[in-house]
Amino acid sequence: MSRPLIRIDIISPVPQTFESVLEASILKRAREEGLAEVVVHNLHDYGLGRYKQVDDAPCGGGAGMILRPEPIFDCIEKLSKEREYDEVLFPTPDGELFTQNIANRLSLKKNLMILCGHYRGVDQRVRDHLITREISTGDYVLTGGELPALVITDAVIRLLPGAIGDSESALGDSFQNRLLDAPWYTKPATYREMHVPEILLSGDHTKIAAWREEQALKKTQERRPDLLDEYM
Ligand code: ADE
Repeated sequence: MSRPLIRIDIISPVPQTFESVLEASILKRAREEGLAEVVVHNLHDYGLGRYKQVDDAPCGGGAGMILRPEPIFDCIEKLSKEREYDEVLFPTPDGELFTQNIANRLSLKKNLMILCGHYRGVDQRVRDHLITREISTGDYVLTGGELPALVITDAVIRLLPGAIGDSESALGDSFQNRLLDAPWYTKPATYREMHVPEILLSGDHTKIAAWREEQALKKTQERRPDLLDEYM
């Protein structure tokens, strides 16, 4: 098999979170077809002492546990000796907001690493010295970086040429041209007296494209007028 287009290494204290998503659907196929390689590393393999400890109480007191620096430094340094990483990402609610534009750019990289924080957070020295980019998937707080890591992985891999079969469809998505997507229909043309819009059955591809653009504009105007400022 030829070299994958992208390799994503994910480091997590709960690696089992990833199995079901990576083993399903498009992500599974993209991996099987060798487009992408995703390797999940158990942070506990680098843990300290008999109990493979990865976290500890915060210095200065406070609730919750903080991931200790040693296991993370050891793991990231080991991986970095094996290949050069374009970005070492850290999902965190105080990072920059994840957008389609960031996904597009990341999809052009060769090697990405994602460190999943957990519990209260991660020792700041890790963020200062190892992380190249901090990303938030939205203004809410999750229990760990695993779900955001999967969001990033999914958004990136589906953009790889061949990942979703139809090379046009990833580019037509909501956000790719700064508009939300038009509504889509499939067969039957009539279901319980609900009809597919006539134009989509007309066979006139120019008119259909114009209708879709008009619908996309309308939906964007109604739901996300902020996106239109940049589109116009
Ligand atoms: N970790 C916890 N919450 C998060 C969020 N909203 N985005 C990214 N990482 C997170």
